[in-house]
Amino acid sequence: MKASGNSGEQAIPAYQNASPGAEVPGPWLDRLAHLLQHRQQSGRQRSITPASGIDFCSNDYLGLRRDPRLAQAASSAASAYGSGSGAARLLRGTTPLHEALERALATWKACESCLLFNTGYQANATILPALAGPGDAVFSDALNHASLVDGCRMAKANGAQVIVYPHLDLLTLDARMKSWRASSSGLALVASDGVFSMDGDTADLPALLELCREHDALLLVDEAHATGLLGASGGGLAELQGVLGQVPLVMGTLGKALGSFGAFVGGSSLITDHLLNTARGFIFSTALPPSLVGATLKAVELVQAERWRAAKALKFADRARGGFGLPHQDSAIVSLIVGDEVRAMALSSRMQGQGFDVRAIRPPTVPSGTSRLRITTGAHLEEGQVDAMIQALRELL
Ligand SMILES: Cc1ncc(COP(=O)(O)O)c(C=O)c1O
Repeated sequence: MKASGNSGEQAIPAYQNASPGAEVPGPWLDRLAHLLQHRQQSGRQRSITPASGIDFCSNDYLGLRRDPRLAQAASSAASAYGSGSGAARLLRGTTPLHEALERALATWKACESCLLFNTGYQANATILPALAGPGDAVFSDALNHASLVDGCRMAKANGAQVIVYPHLDLLTLDARMKSWRASSSGLALVASDGVFSMDGDTADLPALLELCREHDALLLVDEAHATGLLGASGGGLAELQGVLGQVPLVMGTLGKALGSFGAFVGGSSLITDHLLNTARGFIFSTALPPSLVGATLKAVELVQAERWRAAKALKFADRARGGFGLPHQDSAIVSLIVGDEVRAMALSSRMQGQGFDVRAIRPPTVPSGTSRLRITTGAHLEEGQVDAMIQALRELL
């Protein structure tokens, strides 16, 4: 059954068994229909709204997603190596392109070694349990991405303790690490987003590194929203903050600023060799198709050669922030908090009605009472479009 729209105003659908061949057992039908109806009554049913209007919500910060040079590289790679990779990396799934991309990423990110993963979600969810086990602790920022949260859950299932610290609060993190250490001799790992995906704010990596050194803790930074965008060569938040190559474990995604798909984990070869042997998301999943790897190789080259793209995206983000009275941030994510979720949804749909694809983010993705419009900017935009979006939204607000 098709879900209703996300405004919460449509009639509640009557879920029933439509096709006898694939009948859902009665108790399951009752439970799932009840859960969906409850979601809809509370205005929180998710549904898919196809892309339309000017893009102010994707993570295509550099406008590379539709670049013909990536499409050409994808097509050449598919012609040379096939449409699919055919197997997991440890079987027959590795082509010379996979190895070339891992080398290119390692050079760019100034780390000894890189390992490709199929998605950032898969990487985060599976590297934490591959590293932390019984007696160990994972310290996690309260606003970390859901994939790190799920990685923490997996690490917990693997016997590690998970200790969440308030967002960006390194004093409390320090205190919690000390108090945990007083009763444990295990190993500590700190996991943090670099750029936080829903707020657009940033972690202080030099300070986190210092703290981790004091506590012999391994630092994992998720550079999903900074890779390609921040830093002189697009090396990410670590480069912007002067610590490129110093974060022991970096996760970056390829489906955002790089306009392609996939993810990588970078660090010393000691760590990537360990992950190659233990991260279930790497071992038990078919390798990225050659076309995507070929496109990403091209993107890694273009991202570094065409830095005007990042400058444009960041300039537009600051222009939008200025339009809404928000302070500067080092990201292309502008988070306009409106509080009430019904209002956020209504604003989003009115903006879409005017041709601006601005999306609302509401609980449980963000904490209750902080529903927002998450506006992103990219190199595909023109200044006049940004100004028109600001004006339209200001009038609605
Ligand atoms: C901070 C962060 N980490 C990880 C991910 C997951 O990356 P992927 O989309 O490649 O699964 C996202 C995706 O939205 C993200 O925002």
